[in-house]
Amino acid sequence: MTEADLYKRYKGVYVPADLHPPQSLKFYEDFTFRPDDILVVTYPKSGTTWTQEIVPLVVSGGDPTPVETVPNWDRVPWLEENRAMILSLEDRPSPRMFTTHFRHDMMPASYSQVKPKVIYVMRNPKDVFTSLYHYSETASFLANPGATDDFLKKFLDGQVIFGSWFDHVKSWLNAEPSDNVLYVAYEDMIKDLKGVVAEVARFLEKPLSSEATEMIAERCLFKNMKKNPMSNYSLVPAELMDQSKNPFLRKGIAGDWKNLLTAEQVEHFDAIYKEKMKDVKYKFAWD
Ligand code: A3P
Repeated sequence: MTEADLYKRYKGVYVPADLHPPQSLKFYEDFTFRPDDILVVTYPKSGTTWTQEIVPLVVSGGDPTPVETVPNWDRVPWLEENRAMILSLEDRPSPRMFTTHFRHDMMPASYSQVKPKVIYVMRNPKDVFTSLYHYSETASFLANPGATDDFLKKFLDGQVIFGSWFDHVKSWLNAEPSDNVLYVAYEDMIKDLKGVVAEVARFLEKPLSSEATEMIAERCLFKNMKKNPMSNYSLVPAELMDQSKNPFLRKGIAGDWKNLLTAEQVEHFDAIYKEKMKDVKYKFAWD
């Protein structure tokens, strides 16, 4: 199916229409944060599910009950998606944990008044592209990616779900104030997961022993999350996500773009990246 069949535009970006009916977007806009809320923010395919595993484990001090009993989409629900309306989020004890795929300038009014804690996870856009390409073959609520060249053009033009990767990352890097935002790179999670868990714990002011940090990092390894039915999307029916095409936890590595993009596509990607990111001072883990 195509973008026209499956998506609608919200504030200029595509969102899957079925998951984002008008009443959910209204719910999102009217949402009231608490100062101790924790918000996981990502452009899709940047490490959302991974962070939805790490954060509840840090908050619980290493108690695995939340990640063993609640699927990730209810454990750290997307605020803009339809399920958010039926989860009685107002009744959840603090600290509540949420996810969003929206840009900084798309945050609800309450965000800038309350300034909840944000963990913004970024990933090499060539790997984001590669992961999204394969996921678009798997998820029936996403438009068919078609030829790599065609999908690449759409990705670089921001004509994919949640808009342009460049706009997303720049909006969050320029967030004002930024002292409530922790920036995390997928590549650093690959290189030093224990270090990132410790950093998240410090940011959330949840002191962890070295053993608890170690245990959380171990649970959040790709091979272990792949076995967790509450995190590997195996509870989702195949009509929605056909994991015989690609598992949701597909490869979990940095650099898989080398297996998808041709030298010419890489050159084109790099030229657009250089132009779009020329004013960005931030030192990315993948550069
Ligand atoms: P790949 O498709 O490259 O394998 P999101 O959760 O934002 O949709 O991102 C999904 C991507 O994160 C997938 O990338 C998935 O495999 C990867 N991922 C999820 N959990 C991971 C983990 N524990 N370690 C490494 N990668 C992980």
